[in-house]
Amino acid sequence: MTSAAAPASNSQDEPSCARRAALAALREQDPAAKAAAARELYAAVLDGRALCDADLELAEPADLPGRPERPELVEPRQLGRRSMQSPQGRAVLLHALAHIEFNAINLALDAVWRFPRMPAAFYTDWLKVAAEEAYHYSLLAARLAEYGHAYGDFPAHGGLWDMCERTRGEVLARMALVPRTLEARGLDASPPIRARLQQAGDHASAAILDVILRDEIGHVLIGNRWFRHLCDQHGLDPHHTYLRLADQYHAPKLRGPFNFEARRDAGFDDAELAALASQDAQQATEATDHRASPQ
Ligand SMILES: [Fe+2]
Ligand SMILES: [Fe+2]
Repeated sequence: MTSAAAPASNSQDEPSCARRAALAALREQDPAAKAAAARELYAAVLDGRALCDADLELAEPADLPGRPERPELVEPRQLGRRSMQSPQGRAVLLHALAHIEFNAINLALDAVWRFPRMPAAFYTDWLKVAAEEAYHYSLLAARLAEYGHAYGDFPAHGGLWDMCERTRGEVLARMALVPRTLEARGLDASPPIRARLQQAGDHASAAILDVILRDEIGHVLIGNRWFRHLCDQHGLDPHHTYLRLADQYHAPKLRGPFNFEARRDAGFDDAELAALASQDAQQATEATDHRASPQ
C-alpha cells in the first residue's frame, strides 16, 4: 500500500473521496503497489472509509497512466508468436496476460476518476472491476515468478491505453468500446489460450484463466449495464449507437470465433449475438473461398 494511493481519512475522520484516490492509484508506477491500492480502495468504499463524490471534477495530470520503466512497449507485430510447449514460451504468454491485467487496472481506475455526475453504483462497479483486475494481475505475477520471471522481463504491447485516451471525453464511448469491445474480445480469446496451456500440461496457469474468465464476464456485464443506462438516458438506440461509436473511434474489427455463451452471460442481447453469428459465418465463408481460389 503506498501513501499516494491510500484513501487516507482527514483529521476529522471523515471518509475520503475514492475518486481522488482512484486517480492517485492510476498514477502509481509500481505494479504491486498499484494492485494493492486498487484492492484496498474497493475495500474502503465497501466499509464506508471512502466515498465517491460524483460532483468532483479533477484536472487530468500529464503523467497518466503510472507504469514502471519496464516492460519496454513495442508495436504488436514486433511481439511474434511462441510455442506453448517450452517453459519460456509459456512465461512469455503469462507475461503478456499480466500486461493486459496491469492495463485493465488502469482502465477501470480511469473510469472512476474521470467521469463526473454518474450514479454512485457506477463508481462502485468500476472500483470492483479495478480490484478484480488487480487480483488477476497478482495471480499472473505470482505464476510468472514460478517460471523464474517477473513483470517487465519481456517487451509488451504498447497500444492498450489507446482506446482509453481516444474515449477520454465521452463516457458513453468508453463503455461501448472498452468493456463491451476490448474486454469482450478477452472472453473470446480465453478458451483457446486455456486449451493450449492445458495441452502443455500447465494446469496451474489454466486454472488462473478460469478465474479470470469468470470475473471478466462480470466486467463486460457492468459495461453493458452502463452503456444501456446511458443510451436510455439520452434516448439512443443501443445497437445503432454502438455501430456509430465503433466507427467513429476506429474500434478494432471483431473476429470470430466468438464465445457466445460467455457473451450471453455478459449481457449481450439476442440481436447482438445473432449479428456476431452471421459475421462469424461470413468470415468463415470468405476464408474458405480464399483458400479455394487460385493464387
Ligand atoms: Fe482481468
Ligand atoms: Fe476485466
